[in-house]
Amino acid sequence: MSKTPDNRTVLVAGGAGFIGSNFIRYVLDAEPGVRVVNFDRLTYAGNLQNNEDVETNPRYRFVRGDIAAEPDVAGVFAGAGIDVVVNFAAETHVDRSIEDAAPFVRTNVQGTACLLAHSRRAGVSRYVQISTDEVYGSLGEDGAFAEDTPLHPNNPYAATKAGADLLVLAEARTHGAPALITRCSNNYGPMQFPEKFVPLMLANAMEDRPIPVYGDGSNRREWIYVDDHSRGVWDAVNKGRPGEVYNIGGGQETANIELARMVLAELGKPETLIEFVADRPGHDRRYAIDCSKIEREWGWAARTGFADGIRATIDWYRTHPEWVRGVRDQSYRSYYERHYTHRDRTLTSFR
Ligand code: NAD
Ligand code: TYD
Repeated sequence: MSKTPDNRTVLVAGGAGFIGSNFIRYVLDAEPGVRVVNFDRLTYAGNLQNNEDVETNPRYRFVRGDIAAEPDVAGVFAGAGIDVVVNFAAETHVDRSIEDAAPFVRTNVQGTACLLAHSRRAGVSRYVQISTDEVYGSLGEDGAFAEDTPLHPNNPYAATKAGADLLVLAEARTHGAPALITRCSNNYGPMQFPEKFVPLMLANAMEDRPIPVYGDGSNRREWIYVDDHSRGVWDAVNKGRPGEVYNIGGGQETANIELARMVLAELGKPETLIEFVADRPGHDRRYAIDCSKIEREWGWAARTGFADGIRATIDWYRTHPEWVRGVRDQSYRSYYERHYTHRDRTLTSFR
């Protein structure tokens, strides 16, 4: 059967995670003919509950596997008629990368190389690498990252994401691969693993437990609601040009302490829950994204303002306490205790 844009098969690596699962939902909903193969190793961050609402869709299939394991990747491509690859699969938490960089090198760098090689063999028409603004390093008080800002990663997570980006650009240049990169600002929304700042604050504050704020809370991040990111990634698949980099940003910049106050106010919880703890080593000061390229070329614009996005996120966490309980298994608890009781991080441990 000849393939049109409407009946392509998309391999989504890392589709059981926070953003990948949102993207799968978005594509199946927006594109009535597109099929999705979700290829995910199911690490601590991967959760098939995130895909529950699509699992009976006849255009959706899940395959468990590791992007860094040659036989797994060969297996998922074999006879599957994959047209498009979107790679969300990664080790994603900066603090864990500071503890141990090895899994980050393996998945983020070796895994990307392995996926690229198999995508080439399969002759896919598009490969989209999901990257991050963290590869650019840290900004001063003003300015924003553009696509040609030099790479200057400051932590092992960012360094491995930058390494992966360079492999993707080399693949496009050397092999003429139809591969491109998106770099997005900090995401928030439903189903984000509660080691990241926003869901950690929500999960803790809802149980009246302290909110750990690193340093003095003045580090700044730019935030995007996850639905806006997913729409941008699908635009990248359809409108992106090979060998190019595209920034995606939500335009909502805040200091961490302002965000903590906003979340507490929205939850009706007291600011006394905020607890300043030891700073993250090498903590990037400020991220901000210039995404005028995709606004101009794709007509993309963020649609969800901060107030609405945070409210929707809070509503979701409020109504899904069993999801939070489920992901806080023993390995998460031991990470949390190790990380936050380290040095002067003296937060009360999990009950
Ligand atoms: P996540 O940690 O929620 O999910 C990662 C997913 O990848 C999980 O389902 C996990 O099981 C899977 N995975 C990990 N190692 C794998 C392997 N070896 N093989 C196959 N699957 C594997 O991450 P997320 O927040 O959804 O991030 C998705 C992507 O977006 C990542 O590449 C990340 O670098 C990028 N990104 C994230 C943000 C953010 O704010 N969360 C911002 C910009 C870019
Ligand atoms: P995080 O969600 O880990 O994303 P990233 O490091 O990729 O930006 O952190 C967002 C910001 O919040 C970052 O400046 C670090 C800070 N932070 C805290 O203050 N306390 C915490 O417990 C965590 C996890 C993060």
